[in-house]
Amino acid sequence: MPPTTIISGGSRGLGLAVVERLLERGDCVATFSRSGSVALESLAAIHPDRLHAEQIDAADAEAIRGFVARAAIRFGGVDHCIANAAMAHEGVVATVRDDEIDAMLDVNLRGSIVLVRECVRQMLVRPVGNERAAAVGPSVVVVSSVVASRGSPGLAVYAATKAGLEGFARSLARELGPRGIRVNAVAPGFLETDLSSSLSEANRARIVRRTPLGRLGVPADVVGAIEFLTGPRSAFITGQVVTVDGGSAA
Ligand SMILES: NC(=O)c1ccc[n+]([C@@H]2O[C@H](COP(=O)([O-])OP(=O)(O)OC[C@H]3O[C@@H](n4cnc5c(N)ncnc54)[C@H](OP(=O)(O)O)[C@@H]3O)[C@@H](O)[C@H]2O)c1
Repeated sequence: MPPTTIISGGSRGLGLAVVERLLERGDCVATFSRSGSVALESLAAIHPDRLHAEQIDAADAEAIRGFVARAAIRFGGVDHCIANAAMAHEGVVATVRDDEIDAMLDVNLRGSIVLVRECVRQMLVRPVGNERAAAVGPSVVVVSSVVASRGSPGLAVYAATKAGLEGFARSLARELGPRGIRVNAVAPGFLETDLSSSLSEANRARIVRRTPLGRLGVPADVVGAIEFLTGPRSAFITGQVVTVDGGSAA
């Protein structure tokens, strides 16, 4: 059996690029987002037996529980979990509304923690000696952001959710290491996706200026780090935050 990877937010942006790469790698992939996308439907048509997609909200813990259970039944377990879905409301803290704070906490932090918990439960009930798990080694990757460690004006609440996720990943790595489950975070710099589409030209130019590699990132730049951290070549790496930002945080 190929490994099964669960990833939130696979309909577009970074999540979609990861889904595509993991299907190429041979994984069975289960993903969810609130809406579907033409790109995801095309992938499902190419890989009807290895792609499972549902439309649910990451703020709905009960829905996530059901989704993980269905994916585990369909593909025979869970090997890797990637908490990727997130949203950002930009604005200075003095004007941020309660509902915007709640939405970012619910989706980015609580939704990711619930997803990881449900996946880890599946990983822990795997029979000892399971050949597939032994060959690859189960793992969790949370998608953070460089703003978690660097900060960014107008993104303080978003940054708090990402810093929370990094703390979660570090502790979980210690908790689950003895059970053979690795937990890491990937922290991208600004990427050309819908999430960053409100970035002004001036800010875009400023980020490019301070990036040694001289451009903003694209999803394909980050996919390799996630593929690596969910693969056998990272078998002795856990509790780390891997920054993928063209050097801008250096
Ligand atoms: N873009 C950047 O500059 C940047 C930089 C650093 C880190 N990141 C991180 O990278 C990850 C991917 O971001 P991206 O740029 O690819 O974002 P994106 O293009 O906006 O895609 C976000 C994905 O998450 C899903 N999603 C959002 N809210 C959801 C909810 N409530 N329930 C379920 N699914 C939800 C979206 O689908 P629906 O809208 O249909 O639900 C979509 O599939 C995020 O964790 C983000 O914080 C992004």
